[in-house]
Amino acid sequence: MKRIALLGATGSIGRQAIEVIDANPDLELVAATSGSTPIDGLAPLTQVGGDPTELLERAEPDVVLNATVGFAGVRATLWSLERGVTLALANKESLVAAGELAVAAWARGGGLLLPVDSEHSAVFQCLEGRPRETVDSIVLTASGGPFRDRSRAELESAGVEEALAHPTWSMGPKITVDSATLANKGLELIEAHFLFDLPYERIEVVVHPTSVVHALVRFRDGAALAHLGYPDMRIPISFALAYPDRPATPIPSLDLSAGMTLEFGAPDLERFPLLRLAREAGERGGTFPCAFNAANEIAVSAFLAGRIGYLDIATLVESALSEIVGEPARDLADLMEADAEARRATEGRLAPA
Ligand SMILES: NC(=O)c1ccc[n+]([C@@H]2O[C@H](COP(=O)([O-])OP(=O)(O)OC[C@H]3O[C@@H](n4cnc5c(N)ncnc54)[C@H](OP(=O)(O)O)[C@@H]3O)[C@@H](O)[C@H]2O)c1
Repeated sequence: MKRIALLGATGSIGRQAIEVIDANPDLELVAATSGSTPIDGLAPLTQVGGDPTELLERAEPDVVLNATVGFAGVRATLWSLERGVTLALANKESLVAAGELAVAAWARGGGLLLPVDSEHSAVFQCLEGRPRETVDSIVLTASGGPFRDRSRAELESAGVEEALAHPTWSMGPKITVDSATLANKGLELIEAHFLFDLPYERIEVVVHPTSVVHALVRFRDGAALAHLGYPDMRIPISFALAYPDRPATPIPSLDLSAGMTLEFGAPDLERFPLLRLAREAGERGGTFPCAFNAANEIAVSAFLAGRIGYLDIATLVESALSEIVGEPARDLADLMEADAEARRATEGRLAPA
């Protein structure tokens, strides 16, 4: 029996995780958290809002599934990695913001870090058991989101409802907007850098509209392994929670007999500048990825609240980042300060609500 602590239990990933746990007699939900939604009785230990680390101490989980959205997930990620408790990570923002601290904590703790993001779960599976020196590069696929084929002029009038209409994945609002701007793929690029210890020039992003191929790994002999499956998050959630088992799920196997076209192309960095900004922030390192994440979180919530337009998200993030002096984060306090500074720089550029 594996004891699971589920953080962000009321969200899109959280609800699907409960489905996976309920269907698997080897998994037991021992603790659950949410940001503000009441969750009394969902698990033996529950908490709404606040720092979840005391709850985690009491719950003594075997696996922490961090499905909180945004920087709020950072403490739980560092807690799990430091203690060597298996971390099933959906909350990519925490690894982006705290990358260097998280990798150091992971090395000290010596536990497992299992990605739940479908692309990273795919890379993890393609890499598994293969010597590092045989790996040439990795490729993350992006659906391109609802605005994949829109011109920059058409994007000027893109509204919240349209941004929330993702063509292949059903997800929470923040990641759905990030998918429409490709900031999500930028966050995933930085996440992949820290997860797989690869330099940025060996991580490529390609647009693949149907989201059937989740990622590829290219090897030095010219071969490439790809991971395919229907876009359904219950697959990587189940993989991470049950690892190293691979229990059955209700998701159908891939049907190729009906025909399937797999299309790939380079992303357009002119129309989707947040992918370029994320790569630059990642390459600059230190607290830049943390600042990128914070500026993006503020810009996305301003867009969702109707305070700015779609194209303003990237403009705001770029302008706020120009003010940031990136420094190494020595500890959580440095990181919190870097996050707060980038939030102030971004909020300062918004018109009063
Ligand atoms: N959805 C997907 O398919 C998908 C795929 C890959 C990766 N991810 C990643 O998984 C994470 C969760 O995404 P999601 O789509 O499930 O988001 P979501 O539907 O918005 O759910 C977010 C969860 O986090 C909780 N939360 C929000 N603010 C919090 C705070 N300050 N402190 C503690 N908990 C807080 C929410 O609680 P309340 O209900 O109380 O607000 C909710 O349970 C994100 O990092 C996302 O990038 C998601």
